Amino acid sequence: PTRVLSGVQPSGALHLGNYLGALVKFARLQHEMDTFIFVADLHAITVWQDPALLAQQTREIAAAYLAAGLDPAKATIFPQSAVREHSELAWIFQCVARLGWLDRMTQFKEKSGKHKERSSVGLYTYPVLQAADILVYKATHVPVGEDQKQHLELTRDIAGKFNHDFGAPGFFPQPEPLIQGPGARIMSLRDGSAKMSKSDPSDYSRINLTDDADAIATKVKKARTDPEPLPETLEELATRAEADNLVGIFAALAGRTKAEVLADYAGKGFGTFKPALAELAVEKLAPVGETMRRFLADPTEIDRILKAGAERASEVAAPTVAEVKKLVGFWGA
Ligand code: TYM
Repeated sequence: PTRVLSGVQPSGALHLGNYLGALVKFARLQHEMDTFIFVADLHAITVWQDPALLAQQTREIAAAYLAAGLDPAKATIFPQSAVREHSELAWIFQCVARLGWLDRMTQFKEKSGKHKERSSVGLYTYPVLQAADILVYKATHVPVGEDQKQHLELTRDIAGKFNHDFGAPGFFPQPEPLIQGPGARIMSLRDGSAKMSKSDPSDYSRINLTDDADAIATKVKKARTDPEPLPETLEELATRAEADNLVGIFAALAGRTKAEVLADYAGKGFGTFKPALAELAVEKLAPVGETMRRFLADPTEIDRILKAGAERASEVAAPTVAEVKKLVGFWGA
């Protein structure tokens, strides 16, 4: 049996990287596998979130899921904090994971920066909660962007050590990351060496899912590039970070490969390529923003979907935690 699990943090506006690296894949996979997609609000509070805004931010992510094509009749959509089993399994996994494993996590180093001793403990143990998110459903496939690869490796290590320590071979599966395709690593529009991110201070570095058609087109046209026309080969393209990124975005939006995009645009300059990309981006993204706004105008429907999703998710997660408690040897389990 196969099962998909993934999630997005409600910690700021969603951007094109989240959309192409994650949301589009969720929508595709729901037709192939049993799919669980949640809003990672427990992860969001590893850095400060305004309590007056958090529930609304959670609804916004749910609206983006629906706008990207997730169907609540096919996929189970829910808030992480509404399914207590995530937190319960996370504690047990904190006693399975080793400090040395967490010390290697590069995202903590990036996010804590110079203020390591003032970061929350949760920011440090964050990948352990992520492992619990995945394994509490015994998920086999996890669609994510490239930046989550290391967290998936940790998840596999935790699954393996749990199975070994508690004498339960095969109890937890070794989940497979799904990271393929040109959308897996979308870079900043201002700097081809930095990934597109919610936390970049420049709004011109990213396209937000809530940007209107004018903003999308302006950002594509202002994107940093070099003056050369597009090359013939992927090898040459790979030496030009900004050009590579724009071709990758085109390919991911069009559902094609970068080689196919180059076949059409090799030898053409950005004066030709950028307007084509802007048009494609507006065509694909403007309706997503509009659908999000429509769902958010009256959140009744979203709240109903999240509540039903949480109930369905608990039905799958609770038996896993009950079995885990038995394996660990807790009283009454
Ligand atoms: P988050 O909220 O930072 O990002 C959500 C998803 O978007 C992907 N992504 C990108 N993909 C391509 N290019 C980019 N520039 C880009 N930026 C972000 C991320 O890889 C991710 O797939 N830890 C996770 C949330 C999480 C999770 C999980 C994911 C919590 N538990 C269990 C999978 C399974 C995170 O912070 O994603």
